[in-house]
Amino acid sequence: VNGVLEIPVVFNVLYKTGSENITDAQLQSQITVLNNDFNATNADYVSNNPFNSVRGGLKVKFTLDGVNRKATTKASWGTNDAMKKSSQGGINPTSPTTKLNYWVCTIGGGILGYAQFPGGSSATDGVVIDSKYTGTSGTASYPFNKGRTATHEVGHWMNLRHIWGDANCGNDQVADTPTHNAANSGVPAVGHRSTCSGQPLEMYMNYMDYTDDRGMYMFSKGQVSRMSAAFASSGPRSSFR
Ligand code: ARG
Ligand code: ZN
Ligand code: CA
Repeated sequence: VNGVLEIPVVFNVLYKTGSENITDAQLQSQITVLNNDFNATNADYVSNNPFNSVRGGLKVKFTLDGVNRKATTKASWGTNDAMKKSSQGGINPTSPTTKLNYWVCTIGGGILGYAQFPGGSSATDGVVIDSKYTGTSGTASYPFNKGRTATHEVGHWMNLRHIWGDANCGNDQVADTPTHNAANSGVPAVGHRSTCSGQPLEMYMNYMDYTDDRGMYMFSKGQVSRMSAAFASSGPRSSFR
C-alpha cells in the first residue's frame, strides 16, 4: 500500500431495546479509537514498557461511511452470523470487498465480539461487536469501555492471531511477540512472565491478548507487517487498496 490505507466503516446496528440502539456519537468514538490504536497514536500508550522498541503503527484511516439501523425482537444473536443475513432478521453487508462492515448487536454468552479472517465469504465478512463494548461513550461498559474489543477484532480481520497462538505456548506467526502460555485477563502485574521456554516477559499489553481495555495499548512491528501483507496487491484484502 502506498500512502495511507483508507477503510470506510459501515455500522449495522440491530436493537431490541433503546439502549442497544447506540448513538452516532458512540459509533464515532469507536472510529476515533481505531484510528489512534492502529496508527499508534493512542494517548494511553506507556512508553516505559519493555517492548517499546517493537511498537508498530499501520498507516490507515478509518472513516464512518454509513449507519444502518434495524429493530429486532431477538435479545441475543450468538455467533452463527445470523446478524449478517436479512433472511434471518439481520442486515446484509454493504460492499464488503471495499468497506469494513461492523455489526453492533447483543451476542450473548459472555462474548464481546468476533471477526472473520481474510479469505472467507464476502457475504459474512466483517466484525461483530456488542453495543456495550463499542466506543468510549454512552453505553460503553467497564472494563471493556475503551473501544479495544473492536481494535482486537479488526486485528483478526486484518489477519492477526491471538498472541498466545490459541494453544499452550502456541505460535501467533509473529516473530517479535513473545511466546505466551495462555490468554491473560484483567491487567497483569508489571514483569509478568510466560511459563514457556525461556520464561520471557509477556506482551500482555498487546491488543491481541485478552487483557482489560485499560491494560492494552500496542501492536508490534511484526503484527503491522502481517496486517500490511493482507492489503498488499497479492494479499487477501487487496480489494481495499
Ligand atoms: N473475542 C474476544 C472475546 O469476545 C474479544 C476480547 C476483547 N478484549 C478486550 N479487552 N476488549 O472474548
Ligand atoms: Zn480474538
Ligand atoms: Ca510470537
